[in-house]
Amino acid sequence: MSLELQGLVKNFPAQGGGAEVPVLDGLAATVERGRLVSLIGPSGCGKTTLLRIIAGLEQADQGRVLLEGGAITGPSAKVGMVFQQYALLPWRTCLGNVELGLEMAGQGAAMRRERARGYLDAFGLGEFAGRYPHQLSGGMQQRVAIARTLILGPQVVLMDEPFGSLDSQTRNALQEFLLQVWSGQGDTIVFVTHNVDEAVFLSDEVLVLSARPARVLERFSITEPRPRDRTSEASNAIRREILGVLSSQREM
Ligand SMILES: Nc1ncnc2c1ncn2[C@@H]1O[C@H](COP(=O)(O)OP(=O)(O)OP(=O)(O)O)[C@@H](O)[C@H]1O
Ligand SMILES: [Mg+2]
Repeated sequence: MSLELQGLVKNFPAQGGGAEVPVLDGLAATVERGRLVSLIGPSGCGKTTLLRIIAGLEQADQGRVLLEGGAITGPSAKVGMVFQQYALLPWRTCLGNVELGLEMAGQGAAMRRERARGYLDAFGLGEFAGRYPHQLSGGMQQRVAIARTLILGPQVVLMDEPFGSLDSQTRNALQEFLLQVWSGQGDTIVFVTHNVDEAVFLSDEVLVLSARPARVLERFSITEPRPRDRTSEASNAIRREILGVLSSQREM
């Protein structure tokens, strides 16, 4: 079973006398359960819009999203989302942020606190449970954001350039961290990135999207076993191919 994107069309209405903005143009793809699939494409091509549609936060004009055969028509606990930044509540501690979803789901205080503490420990953040987001590094904040999403046990995790604002060393460390926590959970991950190296290091598959309106231009399968060597000949070869497809989409 899987996540199926079927013929997704999305146009944003014209504003201030401008023309309608076509964002998705019959986009179709299947993401097999338990896989990590990256979406890569030009800036503004519709990646965030696509994730919002998969999350049920936005409606497609045509087409549908099926998860394990059932249509997604609104927000659901089965689908979790990790955003690029500003995702933590600044007035809540780490622990309070990780507890948030459990609280909204009506779980009792003692139980949710214990579970959230367990997650923070597992994520190497145990000693920061009482700190506020502004007291943490960017990498730590993103680990809290990932914990906050994974604790809810989603079947699909949508990640929108989650490491985009981090320096490259922290970014590499968080990629490895994501693979570690993911192999423990085995959920499906749809990961949006601008970074070809990141996509090739992380993914089972990379879908390259066209310039807006987005459709899938090409699909690359990456079978190199993990942990991967970022500088291997196989990684370089696939990077070269992806960059070739992407450069065909560059605006003149
Ligand atoms: N709510 C909205 N109303 C009108 N237009 C929108 C809305 N949301 C997005 N757009 C437009 O849709 C297009 C795609 O936006 P989207 O944010 O999905 O792109 P993206 O691929 O995520 O871009 P980036 O790589 O820069 O994050 C853009 O032209 C944007 O201006
Ligand atoms: Mg975006």
